[in-house]
Amino acid sequence: MNTITIFDTTLRDGEQAPGYAMNHDEKVRMALQLEALGVDVMEAGFAIASPGDFASVKAIADAVKSASVCSLSRALEKDIDASAAAIKGAARPRIHTFLATSDLHLKYKLKISRADCIKRIRRAVSYARNLCGDVEFSAEDASRTDRDFLCKVFETAIAAGATTINVPDTVGYSTPDEFGALIAFLMNRVKGIEKVVVSTHCHDDLGLAVANSLAGVRAGARQVECTICGIGERAGNAAMEEIVMGLRTRHDAYGHISTNVRTEEIARTAHLLSTITGVRIAPGKAIVGANAFAHESGIHQHGVLSKAETYEIMTPESVGMKQTELVLGKHSGQHALENRLRDLGYDLDSDRAAEVFAAFKSLADRKKQITDRDLVALAESRVASKSDAEHEWKLDSFVVNSGNHMSATAQITLVKGKRRVQEAAIGTGPIYAAFRAVEKIIRHRFVLEDYRIEAVTERRDALGEVLVKISDAKGSYRGRGVSTDVIEGSILALLVAVNRMLETKK
Ligand code: KIV
Ligand code: ZN
Repeated sequence: MNTITIFDTTLRDGEQAPGYAMNHDEKVRMALQLEALGVDVMEAGFAIASPGDFASVKAIADAVKSASVCSLSRALEKDIDASAAAIKGAARPRIHTFLATSDLHLKYKLKISRADCIKRIRRAVSYARNLCGDVEFSAEDASRTDRDFLCKVFETAIAAGATTINVPDTVGYSTPDEFGALIAFLMNRVKGIEKVVVSTHCHDDLGLAVANSLAGVRAGARQVECTICGIGERAGNAAMEEIVMGLRTRHDAYGHISTNVRTEEIARTAHLLSTITGVRIAPGKAIVGANAFAHESGIHQHGVLSKAETYEIMTPESVGMKQTELVLGKHSGQHALENRLRDLGYDLDSDRAAEVFAAFKSLADRKKQITDRDLVALAESRVASKSDAEHEWKLDSFVVNSGNHMSATAQITLVKGKRRVQEAAIGTGPIYAAFRAVEKIIRHRFVLEDYRIEAVTERRDALGEVLVKISDAKGSYRGRGVSTDVIEGSILALLVAVNRMLETKK
């Protein structure tokens, strides 16, 4: 009873948040990293939502071996059937079904009575339980639900076969005292509660999601639902890294409760999420922000140098934040590079490893010091490409001219298999002109939704990392490119996105 279940919903509640949408392969990649992190349960998605969602829940269920994989379902048989089908291949499948229970939601959203609500819960949970031995029931908006009614809701779910009952603070309205008291009340009042796991699911509208979740744990909850970096609907969910490190660092305050999370994987997981989604981690973000372990003031630096504990309550290594800076140089071989990439979490196939090595050698000619951050940027820019020369557009050469008294011009040559196509275009700036030339070559129009450029490391010879998001009628596609030349980096990023777009078109 002293270990709590970490239920990660980055791929469901997190992915619902604007800007965090992931494609199929990205979701599977994230799921495998969540497994490496050691989460107990991962909510892979909402299988009924679309064929794409179904396919990714299924792919995750088939790929993940140690964690439970669950799919969300409304309290409807068709949703539960879709979830059951999608998680069929999981080593440890779970069905998660939910229904709102507050009078506000019953009256204005669902337009049903309390009695109907109870009937639907009984039907949905027993239906799910016939399909899966592990069933979670969530009472949406539980924190604003009449307490006596909430007891009845959970008693019904338990009697119908739920194995976990979840208490969401759906709109982030609760305070830690109130939420702790709610969990304590339920622990004392709900008949049969000793047979199930009680779970928290707190949103961060008032910035209290982590505090509320921890208050729930103190009051007896033994599952916490959370997301990496707290991403999720509106202001987000409880941040997993804060919960896990809070419990670990202040085990004295939280009754020596532990988790199965391998904390050294935390930083890698947060960075993978940021890399995949293109959303940066705020520098001041607790646990994983760039400044979380930086000591700027002289007094602090002096203190940390004499004894780290003066200003550090946990070590950067314990969350995987320490990086070896200077790693490889011009004379390093492919073997050394592959070893270092493996340490950084990139087990590349031989084609991609060869591509990264070629990019590394060319970078080593232009840049004196190559750091882990450079290597991650190079590897990431290749992960999305399929290394399939026959089907993908690749950059052969480009010439760009721009100045303050002329229109920018770009001449670009792309290759695809044996085809070599050259086009020229003008634009208000060099990137515009280059993108227009690419558009002419691929003969498919797209809208540029987002364009961002950043230096990977300090100094003038830094790699520029470009993130591009384009869209067409079928969807939006991200691309990442790196180069010491920002125009080249931009074209490379665009080509990753373009190849994804054309693949979808096929
Ligand atoms: O916030 C919420 O209530 C939810 C439920 C579906 C668990 O996400
Ligand atoms: Zn939620």
